[in-house]
Amino acid sequence: MASVIVVGTQWGDEGKGKIVDFLAEKSEYIVRSQGGSNAGHTVVVGENKYKLRLLPSGILYEDKICVIGNGIVIEPKVFLKEIDELKNKKIKISNLKISDRAHIIFPYHKLLDELQEEDLGENKLGTTKNGIGPCYMDKAGRIGIRICDLMNKEIFAKKLKFNLELKNKLLKKLYNHNGFDYEEILKEYLEYGERLKPYVADTITILNKAIKEKKNILFEGAQATMLDLEHGTYPFVTSSLPTSAGACSGSGVGPRKIDNVIGVVKAYSTRVGEGPFPSELFDEIGNHIRDKGNEYGTVTGRARRCGWLDACVIKHASYVNGLDSLAITRLDILDDLDKLKICVSYKYNGKIIEDYPADLDILSKVEPVYEEFEGWKTDTRNIRDYDKLPKNAKKYLERLSEITETEISIISVGAGREETIICKNVF
Ligand code: GDP
Ligand code: IMO
Ligand code: MG
Repeated sequence: MASVIVVGTQWGDEGKGKIVDFLAEKSEYIVRSQGGSNAGHTVVVGENKYKLRLLPSGILYEDKICVIGNGIVIEPKVFLKEIDELKNKKIKISNLKISDRAHIIFPYHKLLDELQEEDLGENKLGTTKNGIGPCYMDKAGRIGIRICDLMNKEIFAKKLKFNLELKNKLLKKLYNHNGFDYEEILKEYLEYGERLKPYVADTITILNKAIKEKKNILFEGAQATMLDLEHGTYPFVTSSLPTSAGACSGSGVGPRKIDNVIGVVKAYSTRVGEGPFPSELFDEIGNHIRDKGNEYGTVTGRARRCGWLDACVIKHASYVNGLDSLAITRLDILDDLDKLKICVSYKYNGKIIEDYPADLDILSKVEPVYEEFEGWKTDTRNIRDYDKLPKNAKKYLERLSEITETEISIISVGAGREETIICKNVF
């Protein structure tokens, strides 16, 4: 038995969904522990493609228990639509458990997300406009409304009234907006509550009992290390904790119960939204990666910024997550390149920096120092055995492992479940 956390090491969209779906076969529980429907995890099973936002990728297996942890923020309308869409595709949803401690996103959170972005002007964060930041602000401000509140009509009505009066005052005074109608939201959300009720549970007890019973548990990261509120490129981050510590606090499982932490690394870098990105490419190679990799956001459809693999980022991720190993994805997207680069350090004011600077002013001025690699010019998609990978691909991967002092456990060479090379078992 084991508890395994899977986290993103870069700026999201590394292929966490693919890796979790692959590992889910051996797990009994799959847990999402933070973030919300800002996540977009695409999972390909045979001919079918599933785009998941809140549901754990384990939902695609019939027999797994899927958990939405206490650290999650749920927009019921989006979530119920996701459930309906999967039901229409004949996916069974009965094994879903939603934490009674998870927080709820309301229409005012989404509107405030938009208005705050407008206020920031050229400093905008490029959020997904899902209301994530404002909902976590209410949580930290201790006025948030939780799923357990929604399960109690009287308490919910009271809390909603209080929050709406506060938000409407803010919207009217600061933004000249009419605000929201209390009765309308109350009615809409009580209906959502009825539909969510069958799934609501004390997920902390469920998970800790499962650990005692020696079940395999897989924690599915969303967002990524560089978007982490503590460890990312603040303020160009999300409002939650996508790192491994966040998986523990967002699920109510203590850190000593975790056996293995895997960092998912896209074989190059991408970022959607604003913020520094030292190894970003603005040339033909960047365009080639975007086109071949179809690097457009699952949630917002925005073109992802593309760049070389940045080992300083992965090293930082290895530290702050306590990574045991790396799962490399999308190696196949680099198959045609003549030459490749890995950023191994930065140059700032004539000095070499190997660690990830906190100061965004420094980060925006650093010059990436690259090591160059010969391309492998071989289609890797059908390779299932590490030894059969082209020599130059192995050199590229082994150098990354060396710089980051972290071994590689999995290599993904295609979106499908079977397009995977196992270097080391993680369960
Ligand atoms: P996530 O948010 O980390 O789960 O990643 P996304 O799903 O947003 O983006 C990753 C995309 O890459 C998805 O479309 C996956 O189906 C796809 N994918 C994952 N691994 C691989 C791989 O090894 N090769 C290729 N070509 N596609 C992959
Ligand atoms: P997955 O799980 C990529 C980014 C947004 C923006 C910043 C803040 O699919 O990897 P937010 O709406 O969270 O307040 O936006 O975070 N962002 C993501 N980028 N993948 C994600 O999730 C993301 N979730 C948030 O683009 O820059
Ligand atoms: Mg994604």
